[in-house]
Order: sequence, then C-alpha cells, then structure tokens
Amino acid sequence: MFGLHYKLERKTMSLAIGIIIAASIGGLIEIVPLFTIHQTVEDSPDMRVYTPLEIAGRNIYIREGCYACHSQMIRTLRDEVERYGPYSLAVESKYDHPMLWGSKRTGPDIARLGGKYSDEWHVKHLTNPRDVVPESVMPPYAYLTRAKARIDDLGLHLAALRKVGVPYTDEMIANASNDAYGQTTPDTPFAEGVTKRYGEATNVRAFDGQPGEPTEMDALVAYLQILGKLTDAAHKAKTAAAGE
Ligand code: HEC
Repeated sequence: MFGLHYKLERKTMSLAIGIIIAASIGGLIEIVPLFTIHQTVEDSPDMRVYTPLEIAGRNIYIREGCYACHSQMIRTLRDEVERYGPYSLAVESKYDHPMLWGSKRTGPDIARLGGKYSDEWHVKHLTNPRDVVPESVMPPYAYLTRAKARIDDLGLHLAALRKVGVPYTDEMIANASNDAYGQTTPDTPFAEGVTKRYGEATNVRAFDGQPGEPTEMDALVAYLQILGKLTDAAHKAKTAAAGE
C-alpha cells in the first residue's frame, strides 16, 4: 500500500488520477442520497398556506425577535417528542420564508403550539407573562394590543412569497387586506371570503377579544394558534410508524 503510494507520488499524472478517484468516492457518497430526495422529504398535498393575517403575525414574531428565545423545530429525541409532540418534518416548514427553526430555547419550543391555549391566555401572557406564569422571564408585549396591524400591504407580502414558491392564487393576493380584516370580524361578508379561500377549518374570530380593525395582538395570536396545524403530516407519520 505504502509502496504504491511512494511510486505514485513520483509520477504527476498517476498521482492526479489517484486524487481524482479518491475525491470522487467522497463526492459520490455525498451526492447519491440526494437522488432519493423525493422519498426522503415527505409531501403533504392537503397542506394549507398561511392566511394574510397569520403572515402579518409571523412578521411581528420576526420583528420582535421571539425566535431568539423560542425554537420551532422538535428534534427526534425521545424527551423532546414526549414533551412537545411528534418531531418536526421538513414539509411542515415548506411555506416558511425565512424558516424560524431557531437555535436557542430560553423559552419552550412552540412548533406545536396551535390550540394548546385559548386566545385569552395568549393575550394575557403576551401582555404580561408573569400574570399567568409567575416565574416567567419572558418580556411583556402589552403595546401589541394598542397597535393597529398594518394590513394594507399584505398583498405585496403574499406576492413576494409566491415568487419563492408558496402557492398563493391571484384571488388570494388581490383580497389579502380584506381577508386580514375578515379573519378578525366573524359574521361579515369579509369573513366568508377567508373560509372560502383558506378552508372551513381556518380560525375566524376576534383573537384579542375586541372585534373590528385587527390589532398586532390579533395578528400575532392568529399566527401562534396555527403553529403546527397547517398539515397533519407529522401526526400521520407517527401513527404509521406505530403500525396503527
Ligand atoms: C427573553 C426570552 C423570550 C423572548 C424574547 C420571548 N419569550 Fe416567550 N417564553 C419565554 C420563556 C422563558 C417562557 C416560559 C415561561 C412562560 O410561559 O412565560 C416563554 C413562553 C412562551 C409561550 C408559552 C409556550 C408554552 O408552550 O407554554 C408562548 C406562546 C410564547 N412564549 C410566545 C412568545 C412570543 C410570541 C414572543 C415574541 C413576541 C416571545 N415569546 C418572546 C422566553 C421568551
């Protein structure tokens, strides 16, 4: 073996060919698994997109830096699955631009937060976390209840997301501002438009408890309540694995 290496070292051409062979073995090991990427990354045809109000909430989540303390990715480790629920699948972040997996957990992971608490709980908690969790170190965000959510430019947000592959239709983009308003004002024609475009299961209600013009609190709570609920692919994968 070392004799061969000694000989090769002295002949430029054969050394070059040797290097190419060695490097391509490494390259192949990296590339070949990608040929089966379609089987590796699961698909979820019934996954719904975020509504305009949820996008507004997501933008507030990013603006406030919530991701600095909260991750949105449950790892495959047993303690995580027992605490938070089925581990996260790649498909669940398909429409997340940018993704918010996070790398630090001062607070808990919130990938499966949707439906865990009531809207009232969230409003109270965001207004002053210590009111509901006395030992909490989370900062208060009371001003979100007073700030009107900016909804006039949501069509542009949706159009930008469509450019990177989120399947928003022309109709969704054209009605984005009305739909954001409709999602917080049930029993109006605007609300009907939301369920028509985003599905009957969409949450339509005054998230902050005050009907009318959406506040930033409405938008953020609407977003928090949909986390982990855009597709049930992870729950299906879990039952399939358990052979149920
Ligand atoms: C300085 C770190 C920090 C920041 C920033 C932060 N949080 Fe928290 N969060 C925590 C901690 C710690 C807890 C656990 C105690 C509690 O429930 O208040 C928590 C808990 C939560 C919970 C309850 C989760 C559960 O499953 O019980 C939610 C929801 C939440 N935060 C949302 C947010 C949102 C939305 C933002 C941004 C507006 C945010 N947090 C910003 C630290 C933070």
